[in-house]
Amino acid sequence: MVVSDLPQVEGAQLALISGSAVPELQELLERCADFEVMVTGSPPDAHAAADLLVEVPPEHALRDKLVIGVWTDQGLTAAIDLLRDFPDPHAWYLGMLLVAPEARGRGLGAAIVAALRPWIVAKGGWTIRLIVQEQNPAALRFWNRQGFVEVGAAVQELDDRTNQVRRLELRL
Ligand SMILES: CC(C)(COP(=O)(O)OP(=O)(O)OC[C@H]1O[C@@H](n2cnc3c(N)ncnc32)[C@H](O)[C@@H]1OP(=O)(O)O)[C@@H](O)C(=O)NCCC(=O)NCCS
Repeated sequence: MVVSDLPQVEGAQLALISGSAVPELQELLERCADFEVMVTGSPPDAHAAADLLVEVPPEHALRDKLVIGVWTDQGLTAAIDLLRDFPDPHAWYLGMLLVAPEARGRGLGAAIVAALRPWIVAKGGWTIRLIVQEQNPAALRFWNRQGFVEVGAAVQELDDRTNQVRRLELRL
């Protein structure tokens, strides 16, 4: 997807993550190993950031994927993984929102979601969808507070683990 503008978050700079920022993303993922262990049972491997940039569901185009970095005066502080028109046209799938551990609980996540909402609408999106693993109740509270509602449940089959997940949706 060609993106000439990105959401605006006060006190932060947002930019698409591409090759040169992969080491910073890898470092962020490693600092957030707690999350990866909670979801997959293992910490991120050495290629986690590079893989994230090219992971798309089967038969979905890489051009619809965006990995956005959020830089603050602390460096790369958060990352957003978005997929446009998945699983349906006008639905945007939020594959990941990750805030660095030391920056959590200070409103950055909420500010990112608030900035994404009008931006996705302007790009033709009608909903944001995501899943939350059952073992992540703090994230569920966070998404509920942002207005996301549960629209179903599913089973997430990973390589070494199976997760019960909730499907959440925010209508824009
Ligand atoms: C969930 C997350 C994106 C929220 O961003 P944030 O900047 O911490 O959120 P805010 O400061 O705007 O809001 C704080 C709320 O986030 C939630 N939260 C989730 N995980 C949290 C954490 N590790 N630390 C602090 N708050 C967390 C809580 O509901 C908290 O509210 P509470 O203080 O009433 O418990 C962020 O905490 C994070 O990256 N967590 C780990 C990864 C994750 O779970 N991502 C979501 C995947 S579905």
